Amino acid sequence: MKIKVMTVFGTRPEGIKMAPIIKTMENVPEIESIICVTAQHRQMLDQVLNLFKIDPDYDLNIFKPGQTLTDITIGALKGLESVIMEVNPDILLVQGDTTTVFAGALAAFYQKVKIGHVEAGLRSGNMYSPYPEEANRKLTGVLADFHFAPTETNKRNLLREGYPEDRIFITGNTVIDALKYAVKEDYRFENPLLNSIDYKKERIILMTSHRRENIGRPMESIFSAVNDIVKKYDDVSVVFPIHLNPKVREIAYRVFDGNDKVHLIEPLDYEPFTNLMAKSHIVVTDSGGLQEEAPSLGKPVLVVREETERPEGIEAGTARLVGTDYQNIYSNLDRLLSDQKEYQKMANAVNPYGDGKASERIVDIILRYARRNREE
Ligand code: UD1
Ligand code: UDP
Repeated sequence: MKIKVMTVFGTRPEGIKMAPIIKTMENVPEIESIICVTAQHRQMLDQVLNLFKIDPDYDLNIFKPGQTLTDITIGALKGLESVIMEVNPDILLVQGDTTTVFAGALAAFYQKVKIGHVEAGLRSGNMYSPYPEEANRKLTGVLADFHFAPTETNKRNLLREGYPEDRIFITGNTVIDALKYAVKEDYRFENPLLNSIDYKKERIILMTSHRRENIGRPMESIFSAVNDIVKKYDDVSVVFPIHLNPKVREIAYRVFDGNDKVHLIEPLDYEPFTNLMAKSHIVVTDSGGLQEEAPSLGKPVLVVREETERPEGIEAGTARLVGTDYQNIYSNLDRLLSDQKEYQKMANAVNPYGDGKASERIVDIILRYARRNREE
């Protein structure tokens, strides 16, 4: 009998980071891989499914415009109940810190199914930043049987909270596995705007922002600082693929209105997005995934958040936590754009988040566990 591994995910970043695990399992005859998407995101998840050619066995299709955290939790929990009962997996994998992750772990726990938490042990130390992700991670940790921690720091966080060492595995982050799959030196964009840019002459600031705790004043101040700094440098422009959240879009269109050096575009597919990052000069973001990808590509990243659960990029010198204050963001960008030495200090390719083999390690650990379990 095959080992049944059920993966549950719902949003763009979970899809990107779960895809390498699913692809690795496709080549392991001992494993039956069952894929269930909650579709907490719809279009942004479908972009990922198409790119990685993933065809889910179950699609709960819970997405509703304007969904609240409660809507997502209830929709996912209810939908997963019958799917888990039907599949009865040996292990269920969730990835990261979204509401789908928490609901997925809870649904598995209710059926007494073993849970593997991919990207475990990240902690900012503040329950409201990132919100609600810090809580989702902790809640999932409590329910999980296997903690796949990307880094040593993540493992230490879990040990401090009392999790047994033999259940924590340092694997690296599967985001680096995905990145290696997507970024190509001779990549050509289909998007005419991205294709028309001369990346040797024009310095591109790649920007993304969507965190719930930044929506409102903080986001206005982040966008205003970026809007003003580009006016100072002739050779600098911004590309901002805007998240589909209408609250984010409203602020972006309002603040950047009339600035033709800021290109507001639709969310990009993962492949063009990461290749654009590879050709950009600086990354400004509040995203979790980008904090991991940018250091690997040697791109200085200004993290526009008050706290981060990903200190490794900062310790390595490629990322800087600049908060959401207008002046601080403006002056940090100004310095990076005008001081070549300062730029070079940050533009080092470092890989604190993995070596591209995280999914192999995770699948190996699952296999070892399942084989031992069958022997007993
Ligand atoms: C969610 C996750 C966050 C993750 C982010 C990745 C939670 C609580 N938040 O945040 O951790 O960093 O995804 O992007 O789980 N929308 C669409 N189409 C889509 C996706 C989103 O229209 O394909 C719009 C909808 O109006 C939706 C809004 O974006 O209501 C917000 O989406 P939601 O999943 O609720 O939260 P995010 O802020 O995207
Ligand atoms: N990403 C993408 N297209 C975009 C913007 C981001 O494919 O237009 C990818 C990015 O490379 C990263 C992931 O989406 O892997 C990050 O997702 P997001 O910022 O939505 O969520 P977070 O990482 O903050 O949870």
